[in-house]
Amino acid sequence: MNSKKKILLISCTGQVGAELWRGLQPLGEVIPADQNLTTVTRLDLTNPQQIRELIQQFKPNIIVNAAAYTAVDKAEQDQHIAMAVNAIAPQILADLAKQNDALLVHYSTDYVFDGIKRTPYLETDTPNPLNMYGKSKLAGDQAIQASGCNYLIFRTSWVYGRYGQNFFLTIQRLAKEREELRIVADQIGSPTWSRLIADMTAQVLSQLYSPRFKKEIFSDISGIYNLTCGGQTNWCEFAQRISERAPKPPRVIPIPTADYPAPAKRPLYSVLSNEKLAQTFGLELPNWQEALNICLSRS
Ligand SMILES: NC(=O)c1ccc[n+]([C@@H]2O[C@H](COP(=O)([O-])OP(=O)(O)OC[C@H]3O[C@@H](n4cnc5c(N)ncnc54)[C@H](OP(=O)(O)O)[C@@H]3O)[C@@H](O)[C@H]2O)c1
Repeated sequence: MNSKKKILLISCTGQVGAELWRGLQPLGEVIPADQNLTTVTRLDLTNPQQIRELIQQFKPNIIVNAAAYTAVDKAEQDQHIAMAVNAIAPQILADLAKQNDALLVHYSTDYVFDGIKRTPYLETDTPNPLNMYGKSKLAGDQAIQASGCNYLIFRTSWVYGRYGQNFFLTIQRLAKEREELRIVADQIGSPTWSRLIADMTAQVLSQLYSPRFKKEIFSDISGIYNLTCGGQTNWCEFAQRISERAPKPPRVIPIPTADYPAPAKRPLYSVLSNEKLAQTFGLELPNWQEALNICLSRS
């Protein structure tokens, strides 16, 4: 990859963004932008003018948007902000990517699906989000697809890791504090380590910008790619695997979703098929247990 490529990374403190900040370094000049960090360029995605000025100033070859409004339950109330960050900002980024001949890399969610299927969702399956977060993310995906820019949307699920706020860190903390955890066991999905999402993004970009790929093929490659760890589980089993390494592992009791009411409805099944990614780029993430073991061994 040409080391002069300019990569604008939006969010370098979120779960995926923090890992991308490290993982993208070998690929070019990484320009980090974040709404919190004072040491990097400030960017609030609810401010369209700021987005336009940033792209104008840096003229990146690649825009990687790892930012999103991810508070699934809060989004039911904060619909306006969720739409601004997850739908309107990606639309602006896609339009700017098109104008500037840049590649847009963006992330989508398994929560665009209603969970009625019982076999892994394909990229071609029709979304039908059950909650506001899913609706806002789907609107972002659709705006990017309609923009005519070159893009990669990596659709992932149940993201966890060592940075930010997530189920993995919450269970690790609760496992030290409590003797018993009651965890939902009837939602099925694939936990995916944020570090692997970042590594996979870097691998794909490194392939795309290698001499064997010509820029003309970008429009053929543009699309949604499911990107999750392999296998499937439920939140209760995931919690068991995380907490069993605690000094005094708590009892983990399975409960139905109905016993844990939340403002946002979740799909009961949201496993994604990674076949398209494997066929296009020859890349595959490990099974979720393998990934979790590695993540846990880094504690
Ligand atoms: N988390 C999951 O389980 C999950 C599952 C499927 C797909 N995804 C997708 O994967 C991608 C990465 O998610 P993640 O788990 O890394 O999320 P995350 O840890 O919540 O990080 C999101 C980042 O976006 C930033 N952000 C939010 N509003 C912003 C704004 N107005 N302007 C600028 N930055 C803003 C956040 O900043 P603050 O910290 O200041 O809010 C944070 O740095 C997202 O597209 C998400 O939808 C996530």
